[in-house]
Amino acid sequence: MSVRTRRLPQPRRAQRALFATAAATASAVTLATLLLAGQAGAANTSLKSAAEAKGVYFGTALTQSNLSNSTLTSVASSQFDMVTPGNEMKWDTTEPSNGSYNFAPGDQIVTYAQSSGMRVRGHNLVWHSQLPSWVSSLPANQVQAAMESHITTEATHYKGKVYSWDVVNEPFNDDGTLRQDVFYTAMGSGYIADALRTAHAADPNAKLYLNDYNIEGENAKSNAMYSLVQSLKSQGVPIDGVGFESHFILGQVPTTMAANMQRFAALGVNVAVTELDDRIQLPASSANLAQQASDFATVVNDCLTVSGCVGVSQWGVGDADSWIPGAFSGYGAATMYDGNYQPKPAYNAVVAALGGSTSTSSPTPTPSASASPSASPSPSATGAAGPCKVADSVSAWNTGMTENITITNTGSSTINGWSLRFTLPTGQTVTSAWNTTITPATGPVTSTNLSYNGTLAPGAAITIGFQANQTGNASAPGSFTLNGSTCSRG
Ligand code: G3I
Repeated sequence: MSVRTRRLPQPRRAQRALFATAAATASAVTLATLLLAGQAGAANTSLKSAAEAKGVYFGTALTQSNLSNSTLTSVASSQFDMVTPGNEMKWDTTEPSNGSYNFAPGDQIVTYAQSSGMRVRGHNLVWHSQLPSWVSSLPANQVQAAMESHITTEATHYKGKVYSWDVVNEPFNDDGTLRQDVFYTAMGSGYIADALRTAHAADPNAKLYLNDYNIEGENAKSNAMYSLVQSLKSQGVPIDGVGFESHFILGQVPTTMAANMQRFAALGVNVAVTELDDRIQLPASSANLAQQASDFATVVNDCLTVSGCVGVSQWGVGDADSWIPGAFSGYGAATMYDGNYQPKPAYNAVVAALGGSTSTSSPTPTPSASASPSASPSPSATGAAGPCKVADSVSAWNTGMTENITITNTGSSTINGWSLRFTLPTGQTVTSAWNTTITPATGPVTSTNLSYNGTLAPGAAITIGFQANQTGNASAPGSFTLNGSTCSRG
């Protein structure tokens, strides 16, 4: 089964807002029915198809070296519909010496994106970082010409090939003052309007963005960005959007994010989450991953509730590609995919937030208040499960699939140790699993708990999953038994 990208003409804002408010309650049962019934539902469980059904995109950053990793590109092309080059369109790559341009690395990303049906966010034209030293050492009276020439040459090269440009990247300090970089020093605050006008002249159809970090919530920096955008709009400067990078720390998504993005949208610009990640102090516990799932879902929901939010991009495909461990010692695990490109709980939470999952609850355990581990278990509880419920969702591509299975203890006793039995449809062969071991790889299989998720208190749920090869039948198993008892579905 292949997952086809469905292109929507434009975000349908009113419909999207309606979806956002209704999604958590009304659609779960309907979606579960669809997903269990056939292919249309299965297609909705990729990030991009679920996002597109909401009128938004779901993107990732990719670097040139990523393109030679076939596991990575298979996830990228099946899950994401927007690409931001991680480094390849920055000034130090594209114009390493004055007037000498190198677009080969960026071109490779564009070619990959085009061949995979993905659009491209151009990143970036003017930034204080990854700036070659010849620019920063120019005499002040030559900086404007160098900046305009760089913008014109690069934006012309990629004309018609990029959806948008981050024209000026990270212009502000955290206190809301403009960064005293070479551009500001030479031209004052007017360099921003000049950069936008120059980019617009080169590629009138590209959406032109200002992009920054720590502007996701309402604070001094976002207030300054807001005032800048308001001023640019009032002067008729071509600006189409503001990018909220969203490099978050676990549990610290600002509560004002949706309201903050909405005030920008009210100025008449689009908004986008452009570089989402959520770093965790390593090693990441299952509770950390549950919090991360909640954080990712919050960000996606924030975008869906804002009428001008056009999409969300993660910074890198998986934890192996993330800049976080290199920049923040002791931190990592910041993306939706682990180091082996297996989806983490955050992936399930995002699919669910986008309305594409059969799961009606958080994919991570939420023990009930009454379920103290010592309250009810006894040796006889082990192996004698109470009632159980299973919700599963499948995401498939040409010859592969992932399946996530959420097991809920619907009984009144704690389950201590579990085995879930089910039969894989013909042609499916498990190649890897997460939060469980599965044996054998085909036919009737047994999925067993790992050391950290064997205890399921009454009402608690755990999500496990697997990746499999498949030969055309990517349907879910017909039934599941937990410790010998048949589970209900839903
Ligand atoms: O290319 C050199 C290589 O020759 C050398 O051997 C190696 C040794 O360190 O460095 C390589 O350059 C690195 C470059 O990425 C390409 O891999 C730089 O050291 C490294 O600092 C640079 O990091 C990039 C960072 O921007 C620079 O600020 C990250 O990959 C990139 O993901 C990151 O992206 C930024 C966004 O553009 C803007 N927002 C923040 C985001 C995260 O920092």
